[in-house]
Amino acid sequence: MKSVFQSGLLAGKGALVTGGGSGIGAGLAKRLAEQGAKVMLIGRTQEKLDTIAKEITEAGGVAKTFACDVRKYDLVEKAIAETASSFGSLDVLVNSAAGNFLSPAATLSANGFRAVIDIDLCGTFNASRAAFEALSASRGSIVNITATQAHVATPLQCHAGAAKAGIEKLTRDLALEWGRFGIRVNAIAPGPIEGTEGMSRLAPGDAESSLKKRVPLGRYGTIFEIAESLTYLVSPAGAYITGATLLIDGGTSLLGPGPFLDMMGM
Ligand code: COA
Ligand code: NAP
Repeated sequence: MKSVFQSGLLAGKGALVTGGGSGIGAGLAKRLAEQGAKVMLIGRTQEKLDTIAKEITEAGGVAKTFACDVRKYDLVEKAIAETASSFGSLDVLVNSAAGNFLSPAATLSANGFRAVIDIDLCGTFNASRAAFEALSASRGSIVNITATQAHVATPLQCHAGAAKAGIEKLTRDLALEWGRFGIRVNAIAPGPIEGTEGMSRLAPGDAESSLKKRVPLGRYGTIFEIAESLTYLVSPAGAYITGATLLIDGGTSLLGPGPFLDMMGM
């Protein structure tokens, strides 16, 4: 009898997840593997990648790792080539690698701003560009992880907001240019997600309970909820969707920057 890993929606597909060594990226990689995809995990820290790859393989899936910085185009290109050659094809690219921290714009250094733009926006372009040929061969798809800061003016995060807004624009531009090559390009904009590095950086300590009270659905989202949306976008159910950003934030962005202002005591 075939295991769930061999008979899932993505059986036989090859996937690459940047930022796959932790948090949301790790959860997305695990869910892709559960749906039958063979998954390449990318990040800077080999130990983190190894931990997630081990969890996937011990559960019966297939995972490999390639430690690199998404800011280094030549290394990202090698990771993509290795994915396509080891798995037979690259069908799904997920750009989840990102950096963020709280900083007032007035004291943020130019290098701090650039570091976040480089990782989030340039990193997303690097992986997408490097994957173009493989994805056009497989008629595959890209999913970029953005954030509500792309649209909602948010205190202390001008760097991340600008980077994520850039990624959403890149998503639409690549969708337009690459549709004719059979490549779909979409994004997911999560709201606050439980148990992640992102939320421990942005809403530490008491800020968490204050933010949770303001979320219209009354709670943080789960990594699994983001993963299910990814499955939808990359599976046959999403075959006519391109250039879209799925907002999965429990209604948080409907309130504008209010919750963030409260959280920061502003
Ligand atoms: N506040 C203000 N500036 C900060 C900062 C903070 N908390 N953390 C880093 N910076 C600045 C640094 O001072 C530096 O600028 P400088 O050279 O002018 O001093 C610049 O950012 C780059 O820092 P560096 O540590 O060299 O960057 P890096 O490329 O190694 O790391 C970061 C990138 C800064 C985004 C780091 O936080 C990171 O690796 N994050 C990954 C995990 C993460 O953020 N997860 C949440 C995802 S939402
Ligand atoms: P996370 O665990 O810190 O995930 C980010 C990952 O990116 C890490 O595994 C990190 O590993 C990797 N990374 C960072 N810089 C990199 C670089 N230069 N090159 C390669 N890999 C790099 O944080 P998370 O909270 O789960 O966030 C995941 C994604 O979801 C991000 O895109 C984030 O903006 C988005 N998001 C999160 C939330 C939330 O509530 N957490 C909300 C909205 C959007 P290394 O440090 O080992 O490289």
